[in-house]
Amino acid sequence: MGNDAADHDQFSEKLRVPEALTFDDVLLRPAESRVEPDAADVSTRVSRTVELGMPILSAAMDTVTESGMAIGMAREGGLGVLHRNMDVDQMVEQIQQVKQAHELVIRRENVVTAAPDTTVEEVDAMMSDHGVSGAPVVDDDDTVLGIISATDIRPYLEVGERDAVAEAMTDEVITANDGVSPREALELMYEHKIERVPIVDAGDGLVGLITMAGVLERREYQQAARDSNGRLRVGAAVGPFELERAEQADAAGVDVVFIDCAHAHNLNVLESAQDITESIEADVVVGNVGTREAAEACVGFADGLKVGIGPGSICTTRVVSGAGMPQITAVSEVADVAAAHDIPVIADGGIRYSGDAIKAIAAGADAVMLGSYFAGTDEAPGRVITMNGKKYKQYRGMGSVGAMKSGGGGRYLKDDDDGEDFVPEGVEAATPYKGTLASELHQLVGGMRSGMGYVGAETIAAVKSDAAFVRVSAAGQTEGHPHDVMITDEAPNYSPEQ
Ligand code: XMP
Repeated sequence: MGNDAADHDQFSEKLRVPEALTFDDVLLRPAESRVEPDAADVSTRVSRTVELGMPILSAAMDTVTESGMAIGMAREGGLGVLHRNMDVDQMVEQIQQVKQAHELVIRRENVVTAAPDTTVEEVDAMMSDHGVSGAPVVDDDDTVLGIISATDIRPYLEVGERDAVAEAMTDEVITANDGVSPREALELMYEHKIERVPIVDAGDGLVGLITMAGVLERREYQQAARDSNGRLRVGAAVGPFELERAEQADAAGVDVVFIDCAHAHNLNVLESAQDITESIEADVVVGNVGTREAAEACVGFADGLKVGIGPGSICTTRVVSGAGMPQITAVSEVADVAAAHDIPVIADGGIRYSGDAIKAIAAGADAVMLGSYFAGTDEAPGRVITMNGKKYKQYRGMGSVGAMKSGGGGRYLKDDDDGEDFVPEGVEAATPYKGTLASELHQLVGGMRSGMGYVGAETIAAVKSDAAFVRVSAAGQTEGHPHDVMITDEAPNYSPEQ
């Protein structure tokens, strides 16, 4: 029978608890600065080898990120993480859609071609079926014989002639070799007043096609996040036990695989996640974690850590399970460990305003992941619905009954298929329709840049190392929002309902 004081106090001792803080508990302390927001450098790293032009990821949720969102995110310099509420084949297809969007060279298998003996009528129908306005003409060996465009065939169609393509095509074709730069391709097109340049091998065999539209699109998105082949970057979520999904994503060219789990500090999850990292080439970000101990368990094999146990806008994990970690403290604990191993940290969930995002960086994150912020944009899956004259889009937790029923329960408890015995950890909701992703990102990143100006940090690394926090009282929080006024015009980056 132990009778020293510690034994008797074991339960009351538990209540001598450490404090854990979240976004509204802190503010960044303004500091001397020469940093103009526009000059701040927001580039960062999300995993050991993957760099981004902006520290923003869209959440792996079925109402947030499919290929359309992922293309939009990568174009702007961020990263979309495809959700896993789809079968593996669909995921592979979506990875390919992102990888093929804006490819400078459209690869042979995706180039629409014509045979010399098809008629102009047939080629006209084929081009409109595929939505292209021209096509290389190739023989049975795939040697380029000419190029046919809508302009070439128009005179033939007008007089109702049925000539073969070989008659109508331009047979002095300007071609280039693989490896041509966007600038060289554009110069060729301007010089010869052409819209497309077939890419050929040494024997004039067709290997791809560059179009004027493709080159101009690339020039428009200079800040895009691209892989070493110039293709847009994309991430994909996989369950901790879904080795096959991870391997297929890897084979399809995914840049980062995200182990998608509500509690990665589960030893079965960690063992399986480690197997995944050993089986694939792509970087693997492990999550979600929320404590120093969890981070320590992952740093031996993870290429990045994702933080968030219950901060999300649609999450009920904390109220359902009684467990969780306020996000600013969670990020700082994980970042302490990750920094010592040079592993990037992503703060996932709970970000309502740009100010929250830059606070997460100051707490030690290299990038932030958002769901609700993007769910109302055009690029998110799902349609716009109107309720009481206002426009909304659906947004639901991946642990909500609806998402689990349609296959996403892997992240949370799932006991049956009809949903009656689910123990959900998320809700289904609607979020205001917001228009384009580009304008939301402009506000989000613009606000973060502004924060960098206030703390005098020119880079994300400097925000992490130099920005200091002050603790905010309840009165301080009230003071920080518009008060004592009635808002008459909505601001693009502030809504009191958020
Ligand atoms: P925000 O606040 O940006 O959060 O909308 C998005 C993040 O929330 C997580 N998530 C969930 N967490 N139950 C949870 O506890 C859920 O059903 C759920 N669905 C998503 C996820 O980390 C996401 O990135």
